[in-house]
Amino acid sequence: MSKRIIFILYILLISFKSQPSKAQPWVRVGYFFYQDYFPISNIDSSLFTHLICGFADLNSTSYEPSLSGSANLDCSNFTKTVKKKNPSVTTLLSIAGSASVLSSMANDSVHRRSFIDSSIKMARHFGFEGLDLWWVDDMSNLDILFEEWQDAITLEARNSTGSKLILTAVVNYAPRIHSYNYPVESIQQHLDWAHVRLCVDLFPDRWPNFTAAPNALYNPSSTVCSMDLGITAWIKAGLSAKKIVMFLPYYGAVWTLVNPKVNGIGAPATGAPEGAKPLLTYTEIKNNINLSRAKVTFDKNYVVNYFTMETSWIAFDDVESIQTKVSYAKEKGLLGYWVWQVAYDDNWVLSQAAAHELEGNKGGQNNSAAPEVNKVGQNKQSYSLVFIILPIIAAVIILLLGLVIYFRWMRKRKLKGVELAGNAARDKMKNRIVPQHIQLAVRNDEELSKLLGSVTIANRGVLPNIHQTLLPKKVGKGKGAIGSASQEF
Ligand SMILES: *[C@@H]1O[C@H](CO)[C@@H](O)[C@H](O)[C@H]1NC(C)=O
Ligand SMILES: *[C@@H]1O[C@H](CO)[C@@H](O)[C@H](O)[C@H]1NC(C)=O
Ligand SMILES: *[C@@H]1O[C@H](CO)[C@@H](O)[C@H](O)[C@H]1NC(C)=O
Ligand SMILES: *[C@@H]1O[C@H](CO)[C@@H](O)[C@H](O)[C@H]1NC(C)=O
Ligand SMILES: *[C@@H]1O[C@H](CO)[C@@H](O)[C@H](O)[C@H]1NC(C)=O
Ligand SMILES: *[C@@H]1O[C@H](CO)[C@@H](O)[C@H](O)[C@H]1NC(C)=O
Ligand SMILES: *[C@@H]1O[C@H](CO)[C@@H](O)[C@H](O)[C@H]1NC(C)=O
Repeated sequence: MSKRIIFILYILLISFKSQPSKAQPWVRVGYFFYQDYFPISNIDSSLFTHLICGFADLNSTSYEPSLSGSANLDCSNFTKTVKKKNPSVTTLLSIAGSASVLSSMANDSVHRRSFIDSSIKMARHFGFEGLDLWWVDDMSNLDILFEEWQDAITLEARNSTGSKLILTAVVNYAPRIHSYNYPVESIQQHLDWAHVRLCVDLFPDRWPNFTAAPNALYNPSSTVCSMDLGITAWIKAGLSAKKIVMFLPYYGAVWTLVNPKVNGIGAPATGAPEGAKPLLTYTEIKNNINLSRAKVTFDKNYVVNYFTMETSWIAFDDVESIQTKVSYAKEKGLLGYWVWQVAYDDNWVLSQAAAHELEGNKGGQNNSAAPEVNKVGQNKQSYSLVFIILPIIAAVIILLLGLVIYFRWMRKRKLKGVELAGNAARDKMKNRIVPQHIQLAVRNDEELSKLLGSVTIANRGVLPNIHQTLLPKKVGKGKGAIGSASQEF
């Protein structure tokens, strides 16, 4: 008899064990950076679980973040605005600053304290539910910065009426790059997750003299880096897949071909177009495709789309690339994806493709909203989990009590084994109820992103004409800046 009861308990245990995997979180992160043609109210926040507003600057004397610039000021109403369309979207404020200011902040405990305390205050003041740091240069002291930041956030949450703030960072595509070593252990321990960027080795000195795709998922020819190499390296270095959020670019890179007839990946090129934009937003790219009727190729070995237009060659992510990358992220057990940036999408085509790809994997649910499923790091999720699991626990406890009483009644004594099993079951369930705390890592090269952002603003009006957009003459101005921007990207 007692054997049978133990068997029943064992089965119960097993079924609880398999329960939590269903509630696996998945984040769909959208970055926003100010574009004059794209008000925040345009953002379709139902397509994301998290939206990040960039950027708060870092004051070079006080080391406090600030939203004083006219572009940054937009972040002050961000949370309120995006929650209108999707009240359950979680918002984060991204902080960026010049590399030297960030370095000297991190190098001094007083400066760190000032930065950390004021960043938390700022997040609360503007209704953000998390903080993100975009920083990809000097890694010294980053470990201690993350540790102190997370400690302060944990402490602050005890006094606050709101949920504990999320802490994330943008990191380079690989943990060791250009002599920089990321403090992987600190990232793993103190951040909710890391936004891993696309590979930048491709642009060691501006554009190489062959066509290449910085956004490629794989690189079969292995002459340059790839997203897969970077993500694999992060995991190998000790960052768990569940802390990795994969990059999806909503822009593409432009090369000038030596011979337009030779135009595959790896074709001879003379680098970025002279005096024109080396990076184009997805909307700009679609515009050019529509106007030129160019034929777009999807290379499934690299996972990248490209097309040729006169002497220009453009590699970018279209729907197929986005979907394949999202599948990859799912298969690798990553936490989710992040996009740079939402304003570059063309009628939400890419954002929908990414969101729907996930739904397909989840078993055909078609609810494009469904963001509440994915509130990571938020109390909300704990609540909904508790609502699901509490009744189950109650039922189990009642069942266990029933069994115990039954057993006592049958046997009167000798319950030890069963009780132990019951306790174990309850303990196990407790562990499942508390959703795993998801931690992050963060880092910043705002400068580059800002440059990229403003470049797009400056040239927005030029879009409709392919030639003006892609050919020499027009842009001249920001070009040097763009070159370095893309290097960072
Ligand atoms: C930076 O902070 C200092 C001291 O708080 C202040 O005087 C200065 O105006 C700030 N600079 C900017 C650009 O906000
Ligand atoms: C934020 O919203 C308030 C009212 O909704 C408005 O008065 C204010 O100008 C807005 N601020 C910015 C920076 O857009
Ligand atoms: C940190 O500060 C010390 C002096 O306080 C200085 O010697 C050192 O070079 C600084 N390190 C960095 C990375 O800035
Ligand atoms: C929390 O509140 C207590 C009492 O008001 C205060 O002493 C403490 O400094 C606060 N801690 C934080 C991290 O704000
Ligand atoms: C490209 O550059 C490399 C080194 O900078 C050089 O060895 C190679 O010949 C160049 N290829 C072409 C096609 O110009
Ligand atoms: C390009 O054409 C497609 C199909 O006609 C259209 O849906 C899309 O909005 C166009 N995109 C741009 C940027 O013009
Ligand atoms: C899912 O959405 C697609 C496009 O939005 C639609 O064509 C399809 O019928 C939907 N499937 C289900 C099962 O609702």
